[in-house]
Amino acid sequence: MLETDVLHAATAAILEEKIRSRRARVGIVGLGYVGLPLAVEFARAGFTVTGIDICEEKIRRVNAGDSYVGDIPSSTLAPLVESGKLRATSDFSAVLELDTINICVPTPLRKTKDPDMSYIVSSCQEIARHFHAGMLVILESTTYPGTTDELVLPMLAKGGLQVGRDFFLCFSPERVDPGNPRYQTANIPKVVGGSTAACTEIGRLFYSQALETVVPVSSTQVAEMVKLLENTFRMINIGLANEMALMCGRIGVDVWEVIDAAATKPFGFMPFYPGPGLGGHCIPIDPFYLSWKTKQAGIEARFIELAGYINGQMPHFVMEKVQDALNDAGKPVKGSRILVMGVSYKRNIDDMRESPALDVMLLLQRRGGVVSYCDPHVPALNLEGLHLESAPLESAAAADCVVIVTDHKAFDYKLLVEKAPLIVDTRNALKGVVSAKIVRL
Ligand SMILES: NC(=O)c1ccc[n+]([C@@H]2O[C@H](COP(=O)([O-])OP(=O)(O)OC[C@H]3O[C@@H](n4cnc5c(N)ncnc54)[C@H](O)[C@@H]3O)[C@@H](O)[C@H]2O)c1
Repeated sequence: MLETDVLHAATAAILEEKIRSRRARVGIVGLGYVGLPLAVEFARAGFTVTGIDICEEKIRRVNAGDSYVGDIPSSTLAPLVESGKLRATSDFSAVLELDTINICVPTPLRKTKDPDMSYIVSSCQEIARHFHAGMLVILESTTYPGTTDELVLPMLAKGGLQVGRDFFLCFSPERVDPGNPRYQTANIPKVVGGSTAACTEIGRLFYSQALETVVPVSSTQVAEMVKLLENTFRMINIGLANEMALMCGRIGVDVWEVIDAAATKPFGFMPFYPGPGLGGHCIPIDPFYLSWKTKQAGIEARFIELAGYINGQMPHFVMEKVQDALNDAGKPVKGSRILVMGVSYKRNIDDMRESPALDVMLLLQRRGGVVSYCDPHVPALNLEGLHLESAPLESAAAADCVVIVTDHKAFDYKLLVEKAPLIVDTRNALKGVVSAKIVRL
Protein backbone atom coordinates (compact mmCIF):
# COMPACT_ATOMS: atom_id res chain seq x y z
CA MET A 1 0.00 0.00 0.00
CA LEU A 2 1.33 3.45 -0.90
CA GLU A 3 1.77 5.99 1.87
CA THR A 4 -0.95 8.21 0.34
CA ASP A 5 -3.41 5.27 0.26
CA VAL A 6 -2.76 4.63 3.94
CA LEU A 7 -3.45 8.32 4.65
CA HIS A 8 -6.70 8.24 2.71
CA ALA A 9 -7.88 5.04 4.37
CA ALA A 10 -7.12 6.74 7.67
CA THR A 11 -9.29 9.74 6.70
CA ALA A 12 -12.30 7.46 6.24
CA ALA A 13 -11.51 5.43 9.35
CA ILE A 14 -11.21 8.53 11.54
CA LEU A 15 -14.54 9.89 10.32
CA GLU A 16 -16.22 6.50 10.77
CA GLU A 17 -14.91 6.26 14.30
CA LYS A 18 -16.20 9.76 15.10
CA ILE A 19 -19.62 8.85 13.71
CA ARG A 20 -19.82 5.54 15.59
CA SER A 21 -18.77 7.14 18.85
CA ARG A 22 -21.12 10.08 18.15
CA ARG A 23 -18.25 12.49 18.59
CA ALA A 24 -18.74 13.69 14.99
CA ARG A 25 -19.86 17.31 15.00
CA VAL A 26 -22.95 17.48 12.85
CA GLY A 27 -24.00 20.51 10.79
CA ILE A 28 -27.40 21.09 9.20
CA VAL A 29 -27.59 23.90 6.65
CA GLY A 30 -31.16 25.20 6.27
CA LEU A 31 -33.38 24.89 9.36
CA GLY A 32 -36.81 24.64 7.74
CA TYR A 33 -39.46 21.91 7.66
CA VAL A 34 -36.76 19.40 6.71
CA GLY A 35 -33.61 20.68 8.41
CA LEU A 36 -34.94 21.36 11.91
CA PRO A 37 -36.45 17.87 12.44
CA LEU A 38 -33.22 16.33 11.16
CA ALA A 39 -31.13 18.48 13.51
CA VAL A 40 -33.35 17.41 16.40
CA GLU A 41 -33.05 13.73 15.48
CA PHE A 42 -29.23 13.81 15.44
CA ALA A 43 -29.10 15.81 18.68
CA ARG A 44 -31.42 13.25 20.26
CA ALA A 45 -29.10 10.50 19.08
CA GLY A 46 -26.32 12.12 21.11
CA PHE A 47 -24.48 14.19 18.50
CA THR A 48 -23.57 17.84 18.98
CA VAL A 49 -25.44 19.62 16.22
CA THR A 50 -24.97 23.08 14.71
CA GLY A 51 -27.74 24.42 12.51
CA ILE A 52 -26.76 27.08 9.99
CA ASP A 53 -29.38 29.33 8.43
CA ILE A 54 -29.50 32.77 6.85
CA CYS A 55 -32.75 33.66 8.63
CA GLU A 56 -31.90 35.46 11.87
CA GLU A 57 -35.42 34.99 13.22
CA LYS A 58 -35.17 31.19 12.92
CA ILE A 59 -31.76 31.24 14.58
CA ARG A 60 -33.09 33.31 17.44
CA ARG A 61 -36.04 30.98 17.91
CA VAL A 62 -33.99 27.77 17.77
CA ASN A 63 -31.52 29.16 20.31
CA ALA A 64 -34.46 30.10 22.52
CA GLY A 65 -35.82 26.53 22.25
CA ASP A 66 -38.91 27.93 20.53
CA SER A 67 -39.96 25.68 17.64
CA TYR A 68 -41.60 27.03 14.49
CA VAL A 69 -42.04 23.60 12.86
CA GLY A 70 -45.35 21.90 13.66
CA ASP A 71 -43.91 18.40 14.01
CA ILE A 72 -41.30 19.53 16.55
CA PRO A 73 -42.80 20.63 19.87
CA SER A 74 -40.79 23.26 21.76
CA SER A 75 -40.80 20.78 24.65
CA THR A 76 -38.60 18.52 22.47
CA LEU A 77 -36.38 21.28 21.11
CA ALA A 78 -35.75 23.27 24.29
CA PRO A 79 -33.99 20.54 26.37
CA LEU A 80 -31.64 19.81 23.44
CA VAL A 81 -30.72 23.50 23.22
CA GLU A 82 -30.37 23.84 27.00
CA SER A 83 -28.07 20.81 27.20
CA GLY A 84 -25.82 22.27 24.47
CA LYS A 85 -26.63 19.47 22.01
CA LEU A 86 -28.18 21.84 19.47
CA ARG A 87 -27.49 25.43 18.54
CA ALA A 88 -28.08 27.63 15.52
CA THR A 89 -25.95 30.26 13.82
CA SER A 90 -25.76 32.29 10.61
CA ASP A 91 -21.99 32.14 10.64
CA PHE A 92 -20.68 29.63 8.10
CA SER A 93 -17.23 29.66 9.72
CA ALA A 94 -18.82 27.08 12.05
CA VAL A 95 -18.08 24.64 9.19
CA LEU A 96 -14.43 24.68 10.26
CA GLU A 97 -15.41 22.76 13.38
CA LEU A 98 -17.82 20.34 11.71
CA ASP A 99 -17.35 16.76 10.53
CA THR A 100 -20.62 16.34 8.64
CA ILE A 101 -23.05 18.65 6.83
CA ASN A 102 -26.57 18.00 5.57
CA ILE A 103 -27.79 20.61 3.11
CA CYS A 104 -31.56 21.22 3.40
CA VAL A 105 -32.07 24.52 1.58
CA PRO A 106 -35.02 25.33 -0.71
CA THR A 107 -35.10 24.29 -4.36
CA PRO A 108 -37.99 26.19 -5.93
CA LEU A 109 -38.84 26.45 -9.61
CA ARG A 110 -38.46 29.67 -11.52
CA LYS A 111 -41.57 31.09 -13.22
CA THR A 112 -40.33 29.43 -16.42
CA LYS A 113 -40.43 26.04 -14.57
CA ASP A 114 -36.61 25.87 -14.66
CA PRO A 115 -34.90 24.69 -11.45
CA ASP A 116 -33.69 27.47 -9.20
CA MET A 117 -30.36 26.22 -7.91
CA SER A 118 -29.39 29.53 -6.32
CA TYR A 119 -29.91 28.37 -2.70
CA ILE A 120 -27.81 25.24 -3.24
CA VAL A 121 -25.11 27.25 -4.98
CA SER A 122 -24.95 30.03 -2.38
CA SER A 123 -24.91 27.63 0.58
CA CYS A 124 -22.23 25.46 -1.07
CA GLN A 125 -20.12 28.52 -1.84
CA GLU A 126 -20.23 29.42 1.84
CA ILE A 127 -19.48 25.84 2.90
CA ALA A 128 -16.57 25.67 0.41
CA ARG A 129 -14.92 28.71 2.01
CA HIS A 130 -14.47 26.78 5.26
CA PHE A 131 -14.41 23.24 3.92
CA HIS A 132 -11.70 20.84 5.11
CA ALA A 133 -10.53 17.28 4.58
CA GLY A 134 -12.29 14.48 6.45
CA MET A 135 -15.83 15.83 6.02
CA LEU A 136 -19.03 14.14 4.92
CA VAL A 137 -21.45 16.35 2.97
CA ILE A 138 -24.97 15.16 2.11
CA LEU A 139 -27.33 17.10 -0.11
CA GLU A 140 -30.98 16.53 0.89
CA SER A 141 -32.73 19.24 -1.13
CA THR A 142 -34.90 17.77 -3.88
CA THR A 143 -33.28 18.40 -7.23
CA TYR A 144 -32.65 17.11 -10.77
CA PRO A 145 -30.51 13.99 -11.28
CA GLY A 146 -26.88 14.97 -11.60
CA THR A 147 -26.91 17.96 -9.22
CA THR A 148 -24.72 16.41 -6.53
CA ASP A 149 -21.92 15.25 -8.81
CA GLU A 150 -22.15 17.97 -11.46
CA LEU A 151 -22.85 21.06 -9.34
CA VAL A 152 -21.94 20.42 -5.70
CA LEU A 153 -18.89 18.22 -6.15
CA PRO A 154 -16.82 20.71 -8.22
CA MET A 155 -17.47 23.45 -5.65
CA LEU A 156 -16.18 21.30 -2.80
CA ALA A 157 -13.28 19.80 -4.74
CA LYS A 158 -11.99 23.20 -5.88
CA GLY A 159 -9.33 23.29 -3.18
CA GLY A 160 -7.75 20.11 -4.58
CA LEU A 161 -9.49 17.64 -2.25
CA GLN A 162 -10.61 14.40 -3.86
CA VAL A 163 -14.04 12.92 -3.29
CA GLY A 164 -14.10 9.42 -1.80
CA ARG A 165 -10.59 9.89 -0.45
CA ASP A 166 -10.26 13.29 1.23
CA PHE A 167 -13.94 13.96 1.73
CA PHE A 168 -17.24 12.14 1.22
CA LEU A 169 -20.29 13.31 -0.70
CA CYS A 170 -23.80 11.84 -0.91
CA PHE A 171 -27.33 12.65 -1.93
CA SER A 172 -30.18 11.55 0.30
CA PRO A 173 -33.75 12.46 -0.61
CA GLU A 174 -35.83 13.97 2.16
CA ARG A 175 -39.18 12.21 2.52
CA VAL A 176 -40.60 14.06 5.52
CA ASP A 177 -44.39 14.30 5.52
CA PRO A 178 -45.29 17.29 7.72
CA GLY A 179 -48.28 16.67 9.95
CA ASN A 180 -48.05 12.87 9.67
CA PRO A 181 -47.98 11.54 13.24
CA ARG A 182 -47.17 7.96 12.17
CA TYR A 183 -44.17 8.60 9.93
CA GLN A 184 -41.62 11.18 11.01
CA THR A 185 -37.94 11.77 10.30
CA ALA A 186 -36.71 8.90 12.53
CA ASN A 187 -38.90 6.11 11.12
CA ILE A 188 -39.08 7.01 7.43
CA PRO A 189 -36.55 4.79 5.61
CA LYS A 190 -33.66 6.92 4.31
CA VAL A 191 -32.23 6.32 0.85
CA VAL A 192 -28.61 7.39 0.41
CA GLY A 193 -26.28 7.25 -2.59
CA GLY A 194 -22.68 8.47 -2.67
CA SER A 195 -20.32 9.81 -5.33
CA THR A 196 -18.18 6.74 -4.63
CA ALA A 197 -18.78 3.45 -2.82
CA ALA A 198 -16.82 4.79 0.17
CA CYS A 199 -19.09 7.84 0.27
CA THR A 200 -22.23 5.66 0.26
CA GLU A 201 -20.85 3.56 3.09
CA ILE A 202 -20.07 6.57 5.28
CA GLY A 203 -23.46 8.12 4.45
CA ARG A 204 -25.17 4.86 5.44
CA LEU A 205 -23.21 4.68 8.69
CA PHE A 206 -24.05 8.30 9.50
CA TYR A 207 -27.82 8.01 9.08
CA SER A 208 -28.00 4.65 10.81
CA GLN A 209 -26.93 6.36 14.07
CA ALA A 210 -30.17 8.36 14.25
CA LEU A 211 -32.68 6.82 11.84
CA GLU A 212 -34.31 3.41 11.95
CA THR A 213 -33.78 2.21 8.37
CA VAL A 214 -31.18 3.23 5.80
CA VAL A 215 -31.36 2.11 2.17
CA PRO A 216 -28.04 2.50 0.34
CA VAL A 217 -28.11 2.87 -3.46
CA SER A 218 -25.27 2.79 -5.95
CA SER A 219 -24.91 6.47 -6.88
CA THR A 220 -26.02 10.02 -6.15
CA GLN A 221 -28.00 10.03 -9.42
CA VAL A 222 -30.04 6.97 -8.36
CA ALA A 223 -30.80 8.62 -5.01
CA GLU A 224 -31.81 11.88 -6.74
CA MET A 225 -34.04 9.97 -9.16
CA VAL A 226 -35.74 8.00 -6.35
CA LYS A 227 -37.24 11.19 -4.95
CA LEU A 228 -38.41 12.33 -8.37
CA LEU A 229 -40.03 8.97 -9.10
CA GLU A 230 -41.87 9.05 -5.76
CA ASN A 231 -43.24 12.53 -6.23
CA THR A 232 -43.95 12.13 -9.93
CA PHE A 233 -45.90 8.97 -9.09
CA ARG A 234 -48.02 10.95 -6.65
CA MET A 235 -48.49 13.91 -8.95
CA ILE A 236 -49.59 11.78 -11.90
CA ASN A 237 -51.94 9.63 -9.85
CA ILE A 238 -53.52 12.72 -8.29
CA GLY A 239 -53.86 14.05 -11.83
CA LEU A 240 -55.68 10.86 -12.79
CA ALA A 241 -57.98 11.15 -9.75
CA ASN A 242 -58.69 14.77 -10.66
CA GLU A 243 -59.48 13.84 -14.25
CA MET A 244 -61.77 11.09 -12.94
CA ALA A 245 -63.54 13.74 -10.84
CA LEU A 246 -64.00 15.95 -13.91
CA MET A 247 -65.35 13.02 -15.93
CA CYS A 248 -67.59 11.73 -13.14
CA GLY A 249 -68.90 15.26 -12.55
CA ARG A 250 -69.85 15.56 -16.20
CA ILE A 251 -71.73 12.25 -16.30
CA GLY A 252 -73.26 12.58 -12.85
CA VAL A 253 -71.38 9.86 -10.96
CA ASP A 254 -70.03 10.24 -7.40
CA VAL A 255 -66.25 9.97 -7.85
CA TRP A 256 -65.65 9.43 -4.11
CA GLU A 257 -67.89 6.39 -4.03
CA VAL A 258 -66.15 5.04 -7.13
CA ILE A 259 -62.69 5.40 -5.58
CA ASP A 260 -63.74 3.89 -2.24
CA ALA A 261 -65.26 0.89 -3.97
CA ALA A 262 -62.21 0.43 -6.24
CA ALA A 263 -59.97 0.59 -3.16
CA THR A 264 -61.55 -2.60 -1.84
CA LYS A 265 -59.53 -4.47 -4.47
CA PRO A 266 -56.77 -6.06 -2.38
CA PHE A 267 -54.11 -5.92 -5.13
CA GLY A 268 -53.18 -3.77 -8.11
CA PHE A 269 -54.94 -0.61 -7.01
CA MET A 270 -53.94 2.22 -4.71
CA PRO A 271 -56.44 4.99 -4.03
CA PHE A 272 -55.61 8.61 -4.82
CA TYR A 273 -58.16 11.33 -4.30
CA PRO A 274 -59.20 14.40 -6.24
CA GLY A 275 -59.04 17.83 -4.67
CA PRO A 276 -58.85 21.55 -5.29
CA GLY A 277 -55.36 21.34 -6.82
CA LEU A 278 -51.81 20.58 -5.78
CA GLY A 279 -49.91 22.47 -3.12
CA GLY A 280 -46.75 22.43 -1.08
CA HIS A 281 -43.09 22.58 -1.85
CA CYS A 282 -42.86 19.11 -3.40
CA ILE A 283 -45.58 17.51 -5.51
CA PRO A 284 -46.37 20.50 -7.77
CA ILE A 285 -42.67 21.28 -8.24
CA ASP A 286 -40.40 18.23 -8.15
CA PRO A 287 -41.64 16.47 -11.33
CA PHE A 288 -40.66 19.57 -13.30
CA TYR A 289 -37.06 19.06 -12.20
CA LEU A 290 -37.22 15.76 -14.00
CA SER A 291 -38.93 17.09 -17.13
CA TRP A 292 -36.40 19.96 -17.30
CA LYS A 293 -33.51 17.49 -17.12
CA THR A 294 -34.93 14.94 -19.56
CA LYS A 295 -35.82 17.67 -22.08
CA GLN A 296 -32.08 18.32 -22.33
CA ALA A 297 -31.64 14.65 -23.18
CA GLY A 298 -34.31 14.89 -25.89
CA ILE A 299 -37.17 13.19 -24.02
CA GLU A 300 -40.44 14.99 -23.35
CA ALA A 301 -41.97 14.00 -20.00
CA ARG A 302 -45.53 13.83 -21.35
CA PHE A 303 -47.24 12.30 -18.30
CA ILE A 304 -45.80 15.06 -16.14
CA GLU A 305 -46.92 17.86 -18.47
CA LEU A 306 -50.42 16.39 -18.78
CA ALA A 307 -50.92 15.79 -15.05
CA GLY A 308 -49.50 19.28 -14.39
CA TYR A 309 -52.13 20.72 -16.73
CA ILE A 310 -55.06 18.82 -15.19
CA ASN A 311 -53.99 19.53 -11.61
CA GLY A 312 -53.50 23.19 -12.52
CA GLN A 313 -57.10 23.36 -13.76
CA MET A 314 -58.62 22.19 -10.47
CA PRO A 315 -58.91 25.61 -8.78
CA HIS A 316 -60.86 26.77 -11.87
CA PHE A 317 -63.06 23.70 -11.61
CA VAL A 318 -63.74 24.46 -7.93
CA MET A 319 -64.53 28.07 -8.79
CA GLU A 320 -67.03 26.85 -11.41
CA LYS A 321 -68.60 24.45 -8.87
CA VAL A 322 -69.07 27.34 -6.45
CA GLN A 323 -70.44 29.53 -9.22
CA ASP A 324 -72.94 26.83 -10.29
CA ALA A 325 -73.96 26.10 -6.69
CA LEU A 326 -74.61 29.79 -6.03
CA ASN A 327 -76.47 30.18 -9.33
CA ASP A 328 -78.68 27.22 -8.42
CA ALA A 329 -79.41 28.99 -5.12
CA GLY A 330 -80.40 32.08 -7.10
CA LYS A 331 -77.31 34.12 -6.18
CA PRO A 332 -74.61 35.29 -8.56
CA VAL A 333 -70.98 35.04 -7.35
CA LYS A 334 -70.74 38.82 -7.58
CA GLY A 335 -71.53 40.18 -4.15
CA SER A 336 -71.93 36.73 -2.55
CA ARG A 337 -70.14 36.11 0.74
CA ILE A 338 -67.91 33.05 0.34
CA LEU A 339 -66.12 31.47 3.29
CA VAL A 340 -63.16 29.22 2.45
CA MET A 341 -62.48 26.56 5.08
CA GLY A 342 -58.79 25.63 5.29
CA VAL A 343 -56.12 27.51 3.35
CA SER A 344 -52.88 25.60 4.04
CA TYR A 345 -51.98 23.21 1.24
CA LYS A 346 -52.84 20.12 3.26
CA ARG A 347 -54.69 19.16 6.38
CA ASN A 348 -53.50 19.85 9.93
CA ILE A 349 -50.44 21.96 9.00
CA ASP A 350 -49.73 25.68 8.57
CA ASP A 351 -47.73 25.54 5.32
CA MET A 352 -49.24 27.84 2.68
CA ARG A 353 -46.66 27.27 -0.06
CA GLU A 354 -48.32 26.84 -3.46
CA SER A 355 -51.65 26.30 -1.68
CA PRO A 356 -54.52 25.93 -4.16
CA ALA A 357 -56.73 27.74 -1.62
CA LEU A 358 -55.13 31.00 -2.66
CA ASP A 359 -55.97 30.34 -6.33
CA VAL A 360 -59.55 29.42 -5.44
CA MET A 361 -59.93 32.58 -3.34
CA LEU A 362 -58.42 34.81 -6.02
CA LEU A 363 -60.60 33.35 -8.77
CA LEU A 364 -63.73 33.89 -6.70
CA GLN A 365 -62.66 37.37 -5.66
CA ARG A 366 -61.97 38.37 -9.28
CA ARG A 367 -65.54 37.37 -10.11
CA GLY A 368 -66.80 39.74 -7.46
CA GLY A 369 -67.16 37.28 -4.56
CA VAL A 370 -66.62 38.68 -1.08
CA VAL A 371 -64.11 36.14 0.18
CA SER A 372 -63.14 35.34 3.77
CA TYR A 373 -61.48 32.27 5.27
CA CYS A 374 -61.33 30.14 8.38
CA ASP A 375 -58.16 28.24 9.30
CA PRO A 376 -56.94 27.59 12.85
CA HIS A 377 -53.42 26.97 11.51
CA VAL A 378 -53.15 30.21 9.49
CA PRO A 379 -54.12 33.26 11.55
CA ALA A 380 -53.65 35.79 8.70
CA LEU A 381 -52.77 35.93 5.00
CA ASN A 382 -52.36 38.35 2.12
CA LEU A 383 -54.47 37.98 -0.98
CA GLU A 384 -53.16 40.26 -3.73
CA GLY A 385 -52.43 43.01 -1.24
CA LEU A 386 -55.62 42.39 0.76
CA HIS A 387 -54.90 41.50 4.40
CA LEU A 388 -57.29 38.82 5.68
CA GLU A 389 -57.56 37.32 9.15
CA SER A 390 -59.00 33.91 9.92
CA ALA A 391 -62.71 34.17 10.71
CA PRO A 392 -64.42 31.92 13.26
CA LEU A 393 -66.29 28.87 11.99
CA GLU A 394 -69.53 30.42 13.24
CA SER A 395 -69.23 33.04 10.47
CA ALA A 396 -70.42 30.25 8.13
CA ALA A 397 -73.93 31.24 9.17
CA ALA A 398 -73.51 34.64 7.52
CA ALA A 399 -71.94 33.26 4.32
CA ASP A 400 -73.82 32.53 1.10
CA CYS A 401 -71.52 29.62 0.39
CA VAL A 402 -68.80 27.74 2.29
CA VAL A 403 -66.03 25.99 0.35
CA ILE A 404 -64.07 23.25 2.13
CA VAL A 405 -60.65 23.49 0.51
CA THR A 406 -58.49 21.92 3.24
CA ASP A 407 -60.10 19.40 5.57
CA HIS A 408 -58.41 20.14 8.90
CA LYS A 409 -59.20 17.79 11.75
CA ALA A 410 -59.82 20.77 14.03
CA PHE A 411 -62.97 21.83 12.17
CA ASP A 412 -66.31 21.05 13.77
CA TYR A 413 -67.99 19.66 10.65
CA LYS A 414 -71.26 18.96 12.42
CA LEU A 415 -71.53 22.59 13.44
CA LEU A 416 -70.52 23.68 9.94
CA VAL A 417 -73.33 21.68 8.32
CA GLU A 418 -75.73 23.18 10.85
CA LYS A 419 -74.67 26.79 10.22
CA ALA A 420 -73.81 26.98 6.51
CA PRO A 421 -76.58 27.53 3.96
CA LEU A 422 -74.56 25.94 1.11
CA ILE A 423 -71.33 23.92 1.14
CA VAL A 424 -69.00 22.98 -1.70
CA ASP A 425 -66.86 20.14 -0.36
CA THR A 426 -63.67 19.59 -2.42
CA ARG A 427 -62.21 16.96 -0.05
CA ASN A 428 -65.12 14.72 0.82
CA ALA A 429 -64.72 15.96 4.38
CA LEU A 430 -68.46 15.48 4.84
CA LYS A 431 -68.37 11.85 3.76
CA GLY A 432 -71.57 10.09 4.74
CA VAL A 433 -73.45 13.31 5.53
CA VAL A 434 -76.63 13.51 3.47
CA SER A 435 -77.90 17.04 2.93
CA ALA A 436 -79.23 18.98 -0.04
CA LYS A 437 -76.95 21.89 0.87
CA ILE A 438 -73.76 19.87 0.19
CA VAL A 439 -72.21 19.89 -3.28
CA ARG A 440 -69.29 17.52 -3.69
CA LEU A 441 -66.41 17.72 -6.15
N1 LIG B 1 -41.27 20.47 3.33
C1 LIG B 1 -41.39 19.23 2.92
O1 LIG B 1 -42.39 18.56 3.20
C2 LIG B 1 -40.30 18.57 2.09
C3 LIG B 1 -40.39 17.18 1.91
C4 LIG B 1 -39.42 16.54 1.17
C5 LIG B 1 -38.39 17.31 0.60
N2 LIG B 1 -38.33 18.64 0.77
C6 LIG B 1 -37.22 19.36 0.15
O2 LIG B 1 -36.29 19.75 1.17
C7 LIG B 1 -35.70 21.00 0.85
C8 LIG B 1 -35.96 21.99 1.98
O3 LIG B 1 -37.36 22.17 2.11
P1 LIG B 1 -38.03 22.83 3.39
O4 LIG B 1 -39.48 22.56 3.27
O5 LIG B 1 -37.30 22.45 4.64
O6 LIG B 1 -37.74 24.39 3.08
P2 LIG B 1 -37.86 25.61 4.10
O7 LIG B 1 -38.05 26.82 3.27
O8 LIG B 1 -38.82 25.28 5.18
O9 LIG B 1 -36.42 25.66 4.77
C9 LIG B 1 -35.27 26.01 4.08
C10 LIG B 1 -34.36 26.78 5.02
O10 LIG B 1 -33.16 27.08 4.32
C11 LIG B 1 -32.74 28.38 4.70
N3 LIG B 1 -31.81 28.87 3.70
C12 LIG B 1 -32.07 29.39 2.48
N4 LIG B 1 -30.92 29.71 1.86
C13 LIG B 1 -29.92 29.37 2.70
C14 LIG B 1 -28.50 29.46 2.61
N5 LIG B 1 -27.90 29.94 1.53
N6 LIG B 1 -27.79 29.03 3.65
C15 LIG B 1 -28.39 28.54 4.77
N7 LIG B 1 -29.72 28.43 4.90
C16 LIG B 1 -30.48 28.83 3.88
C17 LIG B 1 -34.04 29.15 4.80
O11 LIG B 1 -33.88 30.31 5.58
C18 LIG B 1 -34.96 28.12 5.45
O12 LIG B 1 -34.91 28.20 6.86
C19 LIG B 1 -36.32 21.43 -0.49
O13 LIG B 1 -35.49 21.01 -1.52
C20 LIG B 1 -37.62 20.65 -0.52
O14 LIG B 1 -38.04 20.42 -1.84
C21 LIG B 1 -39.27 19.29 1.52
